[in-house]
Amino acid sequence: MGYEARAGIGDPAGAVLQGTAMKWHTNGPPAGYRTLPTACGEPAFAHESVRMLGEVTLGRFSYVNQDSLLAGFLPIRIGAFTCIGPRFYAHTRENHRITIPSAYPFQLILGMDLPFPYTRDPRGDGINIGSDVWIGSHVKVAEGVCIGHGAVVGTYSLVTRDVEPYGIYVGVPARLLRFRFSESVIADLLDIAWWQWPLERILQNVKFFSTDLQKVKTSIKNLIE
Ligand SMILES: CC(C)(COP(=O)(O)OP(=O)(O)OC[C@H]1O[C@@H](n2cnc3c(N)ncnc32)[C@H](O)[C@@H]1OP(=O)(O)O)[C@@H](O)C(=O)NCCC(=O)NCCS
Repeated sequence: MGYEARAGIGDPAGAVLQGTAMKWHTNGPPAGYRTLPTACGEPAFAHESVRMLGEVTLGRFSYVNQDSLLAGFLPIRIGAFTCIGPRFYAHTRENHRITIPSAYPFQLILGMDLPFPYTRDPRGDGINIGSDVWIGSHVKVAEGVCIGHGAVVGTYSLVTRDVEPYGIYVGVPARLLRFRFSESVIADLLDIAWWQWPLERILQNVKFFSTDLQKVKTSIKNLIE
C-alpha cells in the first residue's frame, strides 16, 4: 500500500494526502476512485469497489470508501461533504417477511405468485444522511434512519435510530456518546450551513475550518470570511 494510507494530520505525509485531495476536484480522483455526478454539477466520489443499486444520491464532494454497499428499493440520500468509511452497509427494504410460513423469497427465486417478500420500515422512506457527516468503517445503517448534519458514527456501529446533528454515536445499537460542540455552536453551525456555500467561499475560509470550536469564546460567525 502507498504511503498515503498512513498519512495523518501533522505527519509530513499529511500534506501529500491533502494535496491529493485537492486534485480530486481539479484533476479527478486518485487511482481507485471514480467521480459521480451530483445535482449541482460538482462531483462526489466513490471507490471503484463501492456498489450502489437503486436510488442513491450523493451531494457535492461527499465520498464513499472501499467495499461499501448502498442499495435497496427505497431512496438513500446523502448530503454534501459527507465522508463514508470503508465497508459501509445501507440497504433499504431488506427485511424478509417473517409473519408468513417461510422467510424465503419464493417470488424472486421460483417465480411464485406471492406478495412482495420484503417489509417496509414504517419509520420513513429510505435512509437519509445529512451533510458533513463522518461515518467510520464497518457501519450499518438501518432503513428509516435519518442521520443529522455534522454527526459522527463510530466504527462497527449499527445505527437503528435517528442520529442528532453533531452527535457522536457508537455501538450496537448506536447510542449517543456525546455532542461534538456546545448547543450554541451547533445552532450556529446549522444556521451557517457551510456545506451550501459556493466552493470559492469554502476555500477562502481556512481560518474557520481550522478553529477548535470547543475552545472558541465568541460567536463562531465572527470567524467566517
Ligand atoms: C467514534 C470515535 C470518533 C470516538 O472517538 P473518541 O471521541 O476519541 O472516543 P474515545 O476513544 O475517547 O472513546 C470514548 C468511549 O466510547 C467508546 N467507543 C469509542 N468508539 C467506539 C465504537 N466505535 N464502538 C463502541 N464504543 C466506542 C470507547 O470504548 C470509550 O468507552 P469508555 O468511556 O467506556 O471507555 C472513534 O472511536 C471512531 O470510531 N472513529 C472512527 C475511525 C474509523 O473508522 N476510521 C476509518 C474510516 S474514515
